[in-house]
Amino acid sequence: MTQIVDETFQASVTERLAVIEERLVTEAVADSSFVTEAATHIINAGGKRFRPLLVILGSAFGNDVDEQALTKAALVVELTHVASLYHDDVMDDADIRRGVVSANRRWDNSIAVMVGDFLFARASSTVASLGTDYVKLQADTFARLVQGQIAETRGPQAGDDPLEHYLQVVSDKTGSLIATAAVFGGMVSGADSSVLQALHDFGEEIGTVFQLSDDIIDITSTVTGKTPGTDLREGVLTLPTLMLRRSTDPADDQLKALVASDLSGDEALAKALEGLRAHPVIGQARAEVQRRADRARGFLAPLPEGPAKDALLAVCDDLVTRSA
Ligand code: FPP
Ligand code: MG
Ligand code: MG
Repeated sequence: MTQIVDETFQASVTERLAVIEERLVTEAVADSSFVTEAATHIINAGGKRFRPLLVILGSAFGNDVDEQALTKAALVVELTHVASLYHDDVMDDADIRRGVVSANRRWDNSIAVMVGDFLFARASSTVASLGTDYVKLQADTFARLVQGQIAETRGPQAGDDPLEHYLQVVSDKTGSLIATAAVFGGMVSGADSSVLQALHDFGEEIGTVFQLSDDIIDITSTVTGKTPGTDLREGVLTLPTLMLRRSTDPADDQLKALVASDLSGDEALAKALEGLRAHPVIGQARAEVQRRADRARGFLAPLPEGPAKDALLAVCDDLVTRSA
C-alpha cells in the first residue's frame, strides 16, 4: 500500500514481506484438511499486511536486525490480527471480509470462533519462541484487544462521554496491536527504550488513525471488500455518527433520527448512508484524522532520518488520503 521511495530499501521490505507471506500460510496448516482450509480462508484472501510492514519498518531503528526474530514477530502480529477478524466477523455478523465470504457465513459462528482460536494458538506458539518479553507484550496486547471489543459491544455506560468512549475503544481494539507491531520491530533489532517508546507512541496513534479512517470508509466507500454501512446497520456509533449526534442544528434532526433508528432493512440503511455521505460531519471527521496523523508524525521526530522513517511518514500520508 505504501510507496517507498528508496529502491534498495523497498527491495528489502518486499523480500521480507514475501517470506512472511509464505510462512503465514504454513502457520495455518492444521492436522485436518478442513481446519487448514478454514484457517487459510481469510489469510489467502489477502490483506494490507500493515502490521508486518510496521515490524519491518520499526526494525530499522535498532542496531542489528535478527531476521528470524523479525519474521516470527511479524507472524505473531498478523496471525493475531487475522484471528481477531474471525471473531470480529462473528460479533459484527459480517457477510464479507477482504472481498470473500466471511468464515462465519461460509461455515458458521462456532467454526469461525474456533478457527480464530486456532490461529491465535499458532501466534502464541510462535511468540513463545521469541522470549518472555515478547510473550508479555503479546498477552497485554491481547487483553487490550478483548477489552476494546467488550467496551464496543457494551457501548458507553452512564457518565461516559460517547466520543471519549469510542476513542478508547479504537485505541484498545486497533491501536494496541499496531503499536505492538512497531515495538516488536524495535525489539528484534535491539533498539533502546527511548526508541521503543517512540515506536509505541507512533504505532498507537497511527493505529487509531487507521481505524478512524476505516470507520469513515465504512460510510463513504462502496469498494472496500466489505459491505458498506456495516457499523451503521449494527448500531455501532463511530466518529462521523458521534459528531452528528453532538450537532445542535435542528436541520440535522431528521438525519440524527434516521441514524438512531433500526437500520436492518436495506432501504433505511441506504438512506442513512446517503444522508451521511452528503453531510459536513464526513469532512469534520477527516479533519480529525488529519490532526491525529500529524500527531503521529510528531512521535517520529526523535528517530534518525532514513528510508524507514520516510516510509512511516508516507504511511501517515496514505491513511489521510485513502478512500478504500
Ligand atoms: C475490527 O473492528 C476488529 C478489531 C480491530 C479487533 C477485534 C478483536 C477481537 C475480536 C478480540 C481478540 C481476539 C483474538 C482471537 C485475538 P471493526 O469491526 O470495526 O472493523 P472491520 O470493518 O474490519 O470489521
Ligand atoms: Mg467488523
Ligand atoms: Mg467489529
